[in-house]
Amino acid sequence: MVSGTVWAAYMTGISAPAVDFDYPETRVIEAGLGGYTRAERSRLMKQAQELLAHEDAILVAHYYTHPDLQELADSSGGLVADSLEMARFGSTQSARTLVVAGVRFMGETAKILNPEKRILMPSLEAECSLDLGCPIEPFSAFCDEHLDRTVVVYANTSAAVKARADWVVTSSCAVRIISHLMDQEEKILWAPDRHLGHYLQRVTGADMALWQGHCVVHDEFKSRKLGELVSEHPEAAVLVHPESPEDVIDMADVVGSTTALIQACQKLPHPTFIVATDRQIFHKMQQAAPGRNFIEAPTGGEGATCKSCAHCPWMAMNDLTRLIETLETGSNEIHVDEDVRRRALRSTRRMIEFTAH
Ligand code: 13P
Ligand code: SF4
Repeated sequence: MVSGTVWAAYMTGISAPAVDFDYPETRVIEAGLGGYTRAERSRLMKQAQELLAHEDAILVAHYYTHPDLQELADSSGGLVADSLEMARFGSTQSARTLVVAGVRFMGETAKILNPEKRILMPSLEAECSLDLGCPIEPFSAFCDEHLDRTVVVYANTSAAVKARADWVVTSSCAVRIISHLMDQEEKILWAPDRHLGHYLQRVTGADMALWQGHCVVHDEFKSRKLGELVSEHPEAAVLVHPESPEDVIDMADVVGSTTALIQACQKLPHPTFIVATDRQIFHKMQQAAPGRNFIEAPTGGEGATCKSCAHCPWMAMNDLTRLIETLETGSNEIHVDEDVRRRALRSTRRMIEFTAH
């Protein structure tokens, strides 16, 4: 485990507690056979398919999970998607159990919206540095200091933080929702991702007080090395997730959610894409735009101490073996305190309803 520190310092200059957390070294299981032999993989895929059917369960997987899980979701009537579409999907399904392959906040969001369903995850240890870096007590204190502001939180937060918020957003709807709130002349308190918050501020011009969390994966992308890579590949378009640093965002041809970046590969004519987000997204990008070249944006270079180099260590905890074990034993079920859930439902449902139009 690697020790990381998120300095939660407020934009207002008020000093705030440092939030320490441990995160796992990136476990790199490349696309392909996921560490299994061909025969093992096909046996595990079949076993997982049978268990999903037997348990009346449906699999919803994020684009950052291993291609094994993406293929299983696609081939068994489940979904591979971004965090907004993952949240929407559950309530459209009659299955009694949702298996969420992603990180904990995605499982909690599914429970908030579908309390009657059993929500299982391949690993309950699959966290997110944004969630870990924004514990409810200091966040609540921050809110108390800014009672005149509308509280908007990223979906990458705990149920307790969502319960304290007025709105939940994901990167695919954040600009629209912040612009809508600006039209109502509301001042905003934003948490937890500082880069996404700053990006939203720049795009919309909203008055925002920002929590200073960061994503351990996206924070590592480096603009200088990216510039060198772009010079070597003048034919490439640069695609960037807005959790990346401002100087990296400034070099992008397209900035957007994971779905927006995949759609960009389909729409743009470029033969090559340099991509600043988790590398497992290449699986869907290759399906969306076959025959093109995909290159990871650089995380190394002078002074760099890359620990989660273009790959989320928690997303990597999702694999076929863990998924099968969860389905066999019913372990790793997500529970959310009912009072917290009801309050979190208010802010989460606002996002779902707003984006339905
Ligand atoms: P998306 O909402 O774009 O899928 O992003 C989720 C996430 O965790 C990115 O790091
Ligand atoms: Fe969280 Fe970053 Fe992993 Fe996304 S990539 S789940 S923001 S740690």
